[in-house]
Amino acid sequence: MKKKVYLDYAATTPVEPQVFAAMEPFLKEKFGNPSSIHSWGQEARAAIDQSREQVANFLNCQPQEIIFTSCATESNNLALKGVIEAQKCHIIVSSIEHHGVLDTAKHLERTGAVEVTWLPVDKYGLVDPEDVKKAIKDNTALVSVGYINNEVGTIEPIAEIGKLLKSINNRVLFHTDAVQAIQFLDCDVQKLGVDLLSLSAHKFYGPKGVGVLYIRKGTPIIRQQDGGGQEHRMRAGTENVAGIVGLGAAIQSFAYAQDKLPAERVKKLRDKLIDGILAISGVQLTGHPEKRAPHIASFVVDGAEGEAMLLGLNREGIAASSGSACTTPLSKPSHVLIAMGISQELTHGSLRFSLGKQTTEQDIDYVLEKLPPIIERLREIAPK
Ligand SMILES: Cc1ncc(COP(=O)(O)O)c(C=O)c1O
Repeated sequence: MKKKVYLDYAATTPVEPQVFAAMEPFLKEKFGNPSSIHSWGQEARAAIDQSREQVANFLNCQPQEIIFTSCATESNNLALKGVIEAQKCHIIVSSIEHHGVLDTAKHLERTGAVEVTWLPVDKYGLVDPEDVKKAIKDNTALVSVGYINNEVGTIEPIAEIGKLLKSINNRVLFHTDAVQAIQFLDCDVQKLGVDLLSLSAHKFYGPKGVGVLYIRKGTPIIRQQDGGGQEHRMRAGTENVAGIVGLGAAIQSFAYAQDKLPAERVKKLRDKLIDGILAISGVQLTGHPEKRAPHIASFVVDGAEGEAMLLGLNREGIAASSGSACTTPLSKPSHVLIAMGISQELTHGSLRFSLGKQTTEQDIDYVLEKLPPIIERLREIAPK
């Protein structure tokens, strides 16, 4: 059988067996609507409450501060639109955010609801807290900076920005998209000093279709989905009970494995992959060389088109990405790479590998064997 190597864990992860086992009864016999009074409903409600507690314990906050959503994109939309609707104002957003934040802020800007200051980044994709400080105005209501950039893996100084904002005043809210960080970095919301934090279960071995928005108590925010009173009146609609149970189980499984986190193992494999790929001429690492996610290895390759490399890799049974899974069909140059000062031409050669729990050293060796001839072939046939 042909070898298959999955190196796109930043796009999505498989549901772990214990997570699936926790979810299964809620897709079968325990199918009650959590809003129902009867015992089926009570059973579903208790399961959601337990999951909410598991997430709250992990983030070091109160269960009432956790809102379950359908995904991180919805959490990001709710965070930005909800805060803006509560107070017309100015917001500050990093220019390399995931589209869930970026496009939401652009939409608010277009409709005239808000003035946006787009924070620059350096050549590694790092936000400078001093730039945040300089951008603050009297009517600034919110700052949004992602914890780990999903395309290039750069880790942003979230705790530092949180501290700085609190030292300026207590009025400016701070949101972080922690989707890529939750497995590897400290997401204690008190230590980070964030008021809003977004997560998506399928990025940490939970199911698709369920996310979280942490909302610090007292945060002025208006719900964006009207209807029933679910999720502390913050998000109407019958809850995805099995998904929420799966999310709780997934967070629980790595919460209790804190000191055994695969970070070091993954990092070692990532570095082997980076060193091997950088040995190919005309390849450049993107993102910060040290302040980077343990699971993300990202590059720009001169003279080879990203999509063509992905197809070549796929023919060898290797799954990778050219950046964000969500932007792939758009084939537009990455706003992240452009903000980092990478030329438009080079952005077309972007390539991202993201590693996970199941990645082995043999997988890395296999990629290092297959990738160089793919690049060589593409360079040969590229128009001069
Ligand atoms: C940093 C980041 N934020 C948000 C998302 C969106 O997650 P979802 O598609 O589950 O809404 C992703 C997915 O790639 C991501 O990497």
